[in-house]
Amino acid sequence: MIKMTEYAERRNELMQIIGPTGIVILPSYPTARRNSDCEYTYRPHSDLYYLSGFEEPETVLILAPNRAEGEFILFNRTRDRAREIWDGLRAGQQGACEQYGADESFPISDLESMLPELLEGREEVHYALGNDKSFDQTLINTLNKIRGKIRSGLNAPLVIMDITETLHEMRLVKSPAEIALMRKAAEISAQAHIRAMTYCKPNMNEYQLEAEIIHEFQRNGARHCAYSPIVGSGANSCILHYVTNDKIIKNGDLVLVDAGCEYQYYAADITRTFPANGKFSPEQRAIYEIVLASQLAGLHAARMGAEFPAMQHAIVKIITQGLLDLGILKGHLDDLIAEEAYFPFYMHKSGHWLGLDVHDVGRYKVDGKWRQLQPGMVLTVEPGIYISADIPGVNEKWHNIGVRIEDDVVITEKGNDILSKDVPKSIADIEALMA
Ligand code: GLY
Ligand code: MN
Ligand code: MN
Repeated sequence: MIKMTEYAERRNELMQIIGPTGIVILPSYPTARRNSDCEYTYRPHSDLYYLSGFEEPETVLILAPNRAEGEFILFNRTRDRAREIWDGLRAGQQGACEQYGADESFPISDLESMLPELLEGREEVHYALGNDKSFDQTLINTLNKIRGKIRSGLNAPLVIMDITETLHEMRLVKSPAEIALMRKAAEISAQAHIRAMTYCKPNMNEYQLEAEIIHEFQRNGARHCAYSPIVGSGANSCILHYVTNDKIIKNGDLVLVDAGCEYQYYAADITRTFPANGKFSPEQRAIYEIVLASQLAGLHAARMGAEFPAMQHAIVKIITQGLLDLGILKGHLDDLIAEEAYFPFYMHKSGHWLGLDVHDVGRYKVDGKWRQLQPGMVLTVEPGIYISADIPGVNEKWHNIGVRIEDDVVITEKGNDILSKDVPKSIADIEALMA
């Protein structure tokens, strides 16, 4: 769990960075209707949650450094006995202050009338335009209201700045408490992958494996997936974000499972690939060994001071050499790498930041240069080879072999720590588990 004091430290750090002339405005996501009067399960905006731990919809968080009446303001829902009977308790204004440490809290319905006085005299509004059209309009109306009073001496902010500059840089480096939650998310997800391997039998449906995965997530307190699980058998293993998950798994197929839970809003993101019948064929084995070697090289490269593309370079070299050794590519290693001959087989990046969001925030390049990895950053390393039947000039025996291996890694002072290491990934260990 993240302590309330840590949320307060984050807010203070952010206010230090933006300075006394700035103001942060963070609206929650709107709720989303699934059908008729049924809504999708609400999930707070990661930025808003990161700064407050507040989970309710219809919320706007404001940080106004040096404001005399208080710097941390929450606009949120009022207590409402009738709504609470149907939908559950709300924090209300008192709860926002007492439980979440807001200096002041007001009903969300007061926002529009109060926003002008909050913005007046501030120079920069830290707000992410373009996420919520209706809130964008509210902000523009407010700015126009203040501009209309310039002859009374009121000054409107001149700059609207994306929160990416400041908050997302903070989110990129995880605290010990965050890493503990991410470790838990990865451990639960690892058990789910082990369960999928253990339960897999030819002639099952892909969604039956998905069910085993979600079962393991939920019974361990991770009520939600960090993203829709991918369970792709045979040709579907070559579709990167396959989520249909409704085909029969055939004897002789490979099964690619990319699934991670969300634990207290932190994501895990793990991929394993295994044979439906528990035994890799010679062709599957050959491709798998290349991907595994490339993943181990990618993991080795993920250490303090390395620039982000170091992992991709290590991976690409091994994948290209491997495809060359099998005769799937022809030519000279350096030329093939230079002309990206691997691209039809490996067409994505080596990985991404991981955190509250599965594709987490934070820049990959700063001032035009690739950023160096630092302790506390968490990323995935996830190479793959996907040989779909429509790649020209490849012997049929390789068709429909799709392999990805993905782990979650924290950069440490000494090297790295693989959060998802509990799931087997050597051929011997996978075959032993499935036997
Ligand atoms: N599960 C999405 C990804 O691996 O990036
Ligand atoms: Mn990933
Ligand atoms: Mn993934």
